[in-house]
Amino acid sequence: MSRKKIILITGANGEIGKNLIDYLSKSGSNNIVTLDLQPLEDTSKIYKHITGSILDQQIIDDVNADYEISTIYHLAAMLSTKSEYAPFNANQVNVNGTLNLIDLAIKQGTMNNSPVQFFFPSSIAVYGLDKNIVNPIKESECLNPKTIYGMNKLYCEQLGIYFSKNYHRLTKDYSPDLLDFRSIRFPGLISITTHPTGGTSDYIPEMLHSASKSEEDYECFVNKETRLPFMIMPDAIDAICKLMKVQKSYLKHQVYNISAFSPSVELFHNKIKTYFPDFNVTYNINEERQKMVNGWPSEVCCERALYDWDWKAKYNLDNAFSEYFIPYLKSKAVNS
Ligand code: SER
Repeated sequence: MSRKKIILITGANGEIGKNLIDYLSKSGSNNIVTLDLQPLEDTSKIYKHITGSILDQQIIDDVNADYEISTIYHLAAMLSTKSEYAPFNANQVNVNGTLNLIDLAIKQGTMNNSPVQFFFPSSIAVYGLDKNIVNPIKESECLNPKTIYGMNKLYCEQLGIYFSKNYHRLTKDYSPDLLDFRSIRFPGLISITTHPTGGTSDYIPEMLHSASKSEEDYECFVNKETRLPFMIMPDAIDAICKLMKVQKSYLKHQVYNISAFSPSVELFHNKIKTYFPDFNVTYNINEERQKMVNGWPSEVCCERALYDWDWKAKYNLDNAFSEYFIPYLKSKAVNS
């Protein structure tokens, strides 16, 4: 019996997951199978949802037996702040979970004798800055993560590269190129339709969501000078889809930085105030979270992505507000 050809998305209930499902289903994909710890609220855009863990070998084995997988978007992860609270769990989910999915991809590639595309979202948390570092940071620089999440992400990038190039190098069943591993090191992501949980770059989207709910104050956990790279979710989803469509021979690397703008907390607050004049930010600094973001770069160099797959952000800070955040909030206000 022939198995249904599918796209597998893990972590489907996360921010990237929900937005990616929207995008892929609008582009005509009707073969999405999702896996998440929680049930999916809206299953109308997918073929099937599996509620369970990426650490559950039985689930992975069943998926392997039931489907022919062309592409895996492995988005399930514990984010940075949550991971610092539970580093052993984080390692289980972020590393062992990823290994399970890589193993599934290799099994599928071998069984179908065709490469499986694998997307892995990495992060600016792989960087660990020392003093006097000059931004923007290139992909090969400052790879000295200070958090368990950053360590997990960096190691998983390396696992993906290892298993796509060197797997079984010393044995007869060496079959290179069955895993087509591609990864983006994301900056902080800002989505107007979903809310972040457990991350450390959450202060920017939290600020925006709280202004849009007409809350007068947002209590920020990092100081007003803090500056990290960010981009808006539609640009991030576009980037994932663009990277996955590029012919492999154009890609000289498997891991790419991308980002769009790097506002300080103060600048972002001022920008919000042009639309929500009463919105105020107070500060209650969480030293641990401040330390985490201080170790991350304020700017990353995106030249690799530009050269290899012609990537450029569509939205800067100004049109992110005028064309994405504000129109969405206005349409919500009209419909509510
Ligand atoms: N945005 C993520 C976090 O803050 C980093 O990739 O955890």
